[in-house]
Amino acid sequence: MERLKGKIAIITGASQGMGESHARKFVAEGAKVVLTDLNEARGRMIADELGTENALFVKQDVAKVEDWKNVVLQTETVFGPVNVLVNNAGILGPVANALELEDEAYHKVIDINQNGIFYGMKYTLPSMLKAGIGSIVNISSIAGIVAIYGYPNLAYMGSKFAIRGMTKAVAVEFAKNNIRANSVHPGFIKTPMMAQATDEEGGSATQFIPLGRLAETSEVSNLVVFLASDESSYLTGTEQIIDGGMSIQ
Ligand SMILES: NC(=O)c1ccc[n+]([C@@H]2O[C@H](COP(=O)([O-])OP(=O)(O)OC[C@H]3O[C@@H](n4cnc5c(N)ncnc54)[C@H](O)[C@@H]3O)[C@@H](O)[C@H]2O)c1
Repeated sequence: MERLKGKIAIITGASQGMGESHARKFVAEGAKVVLTDLNEARGRMIADELGTENALFVKQDVAKVEDWKNVVLQTETVFGPVNVLVNNAGILGPVANALELEDEAYHKVIDINQNGIFYGMKYTLPSMLKAGIGSIVNISSIAGIVAIYGYPNLAYMGSKFAIRGMTKAVAVEFAKNNIRANSVHPGFIKTPMMAQATDEEGGSATQFIPLGRLAETSEVSNLVVFLASDESSYLTGTEQIIDGGMSIQ
């Protein structure tokens, strides 16, 4: 139960869904965790439950540079230099193809899903350089690997493909500094976001999943813990697909 002992992690979008699950699992594995989110009430409640010696909540909009500077400063002040970053916060945005998508809606998704991840890496890397070790886990999607026919979501897909590229760019540049970066590509996972897109059990979407079901958030947390830990010390620049076999065909 100490797979993350000595790890000081920032997890964005940690007030619900997968981010919450990662935060809980990280603390159970011995990490010190800074949970960030727009949703302050729920984030604080989770951090309180995890205990002040293990967890801190900091309110953050990942699309805002000033918020990133504050999150890194608070992490360093309370726990020390950051050595794990889980860029998890994201929004679905409108289901719309290129003709239907409003410019403003497009930019909002890119600001949060793509620019937020860039800022996260940019403002956390100096802290990782101080720590002398780092693991960045960027949460993309299966929609960053393939397009889903009949489910147009151009802005979301664009942002999730970009995450894949930015992860590799950082992985190749910072490997010499003992900093790794990998992207994670979940398929359909049971979270509030998924409930918004379909229904709790996935509805007709399950027919496209060879394993025949949606995943529990804990199944993704198992992978994220592995990537954050030194068990994955030789993995960098990889794309970790966790989709119940959806993208095999
Ligand atoms: N649920 C799925 O099936 C699925 C599949 C593939 C990828 N993903 C990705 O996984 C990540 C987590 O998804 P989830 O399903 O747990 O989502 P969710 O909507 O349940 O939770 C996302 C959290 O991010 C927070 N958030 C949103 N915008 C933010 C911002 N600007 N700044 C800070 N926090 C913000 C929300 O308040 C929320 O607590 C997302 O990046 C999502 O795109 C989810």
